[in-house]
Amino acid sequence: MAHVSMSHLTRMQKYWLVTGSVGPRPIALVTSLAQDGLCNAAPFSAFNYMGEDPPLFAIAVDHYGEESHRPGERKDTLCNIVEHGEFVVNMVDETIVERAILCGSDFPAHISEPEAVGLELTSSTTVKVPRIAEAPIAWECKLFKVLDFSAQRSIVFGEIAAMYFREGLLDEERLRVRVDEFQPYGRLGGPNYCRTTDRVTLKVPTYLASTGVPRE
Ligand SMILES: Cc1cc2nc3c(=O)[nH]c(=O)nc-3n(C[C@H](O)[C@H](O)[C@H](O)COP(=O)(O)O)c2cc1C
Repeated sequence: MAHVSMSHLTRMQKYWLVTGSVGPRPIALVTSLAQDGLCNAAPFSAFNYMGEDPPLFAIAVDHYGEESHRPGERKDTLCNIVEHGEFVVNMVDETIVERAILCGSDFPAHISEPEAVGLELTSSTTVKVPRIAEAPIAWECKLFKVLDFSAQRSIVFGEIAAMYFREGLLDEERLRVRVDEFQPYGRLGGPNYCRTTDRVTLKVPTYLASTGVPRE
């Protein structure tokens, strides 16, 4: 096995090793409102849920790097979330993945990404920020906390206020997501992605404490 110590690596070397090892990652296509009311959208894969009561999740937002068109600036998504305290996380599946990824391009601030890539916006209920109409699931979110943990990166903790589900994705009687019908895309290292169409079910056995024998 190759052993690599993190201590002498550059930031980008660490980035490639870390992001190449954590996958597949879910993709949040975040919509947020700019000061002028324009709807911004950007994909984030440093994203996952953190708890359910309160229903919290986290997104790590990098600041624009030296190689970018806006070195040192904070991303529009982060600025908008801090400014307005609300945003929408739109889940990414087969139907919108290409357009969601295009939203990660360096569009100038006066361009609304959903419009530019052909995604339809529709009103939300509990937040002013529109959601993506084609998204399979959308969370209406309030900012919980921002943790600026380095000069380069901030973690946005969001709280889910309400959720939208595409027709057929929610079992309304049991209040469960129909997981078989939900086909999110996953991000691997770099520009590599995976589908979630090949499924398996693996159950965790529970043991009878007294004997150490798995329960039937
Ligand atoms: C699939 C995908 C995932 C991404 N994940 C992240 C991420 O987790 N954190 C981040 O800072 N940027 C991420 N990016 C880059 C941002 O989407 C990109 O910088 C975007 O232009 C930011 O837009 P904004 O300035 O409108 O917020 C990702 C890009 C793609 C295509």
